[in-house]
Amino acid sequence: MSSDATSAQLQGMDSTAGYAEGAEALAEQYESVTFAEVHREVLHLIPARPGRVLDIGAGSGRDAAALAAQGHRVVAAEPTVELRSLGRRRHADRQIEWTDDALPELPGLIAAGSRFDLILLTAVWMHLDERQRALGMGRVAGLLATGGRIILSLRHGPVPMGRRMFPVTAQETIGLARGHGLDVLHHAQREDPHGRPGVSWTYLGFELPR
Ligand SMILES: C[S@@+](CC[C@H](N)C(=O)[O-])C[C@H]1O[C@@H](n2cnc3c(N)ncnc32)[C@H](O)[C@@H]1O
Repeated sequence: MSSDATSAQLQGMDSTAGYAEGAEALAEQYESVTFAEVHREVLHLIPARPGRVLDIGAGSGRDAAALAAQGHRVVAAEPTVELRSLGRRRHADRQIEWTDDALPELPGLIAAGSRFDLILLTAVWMHLDERQRALGMGRVAGLLATGGRIILSLRHGPVPMGRRMFPVTAQETIGLARGHGLDVLHHAQREDPHGRPGVSWTYLGFELPR
């Protein structure tokens, strides 16, 4: 799917389109950069004390594994079974609870009633359409413990073939977060850690005030 795909074409696709087929190669790509490199801008937002972390759209588990290694109790939610299995195997040495759950409803996590000190949404939010983003922000905010934080990255630029992505702005995302009572802690742009031409990222940090 090229960047000029019509919105009707995009609406007809699932948010996980392209991930099952490309899982092995994508996992290699995700693991070719480190957690510290990917999250360079926002490392100061990660709780110093071990806490409860949820990684939504965890992919190969790169970030879940790094946070587990720091002593956090990590749940990795990943709807693409191929990536979930690869991640489970690749990071078998880390204590990670893998779960099959998906935005925007996150039915399993909501039903479990858990609360998290940190929620990661790395390179996943722009896979949701406008309605899903509006619903999803409420669900994610509802999973935060008091004082809990969200770190969210948005990809900008050309859409890879066969994938569903929407052009999502920082402004819209900040508006949704504020609408659910979250404060903005961080807002920055950065280049692509993989050096892909035309690709850039917005990094956002939110907090549920005490
Ligand atoms: C670009 S990958 C990012 C993976 C990982 N967070 C990383 O940074 O390496 C996007 C991930 O979001 C997942 N995903 C797609 N739609 C989703 C949804 N509706 N809910 C949760 N995860 C989703 C995909 O299966 C994929 O693992």
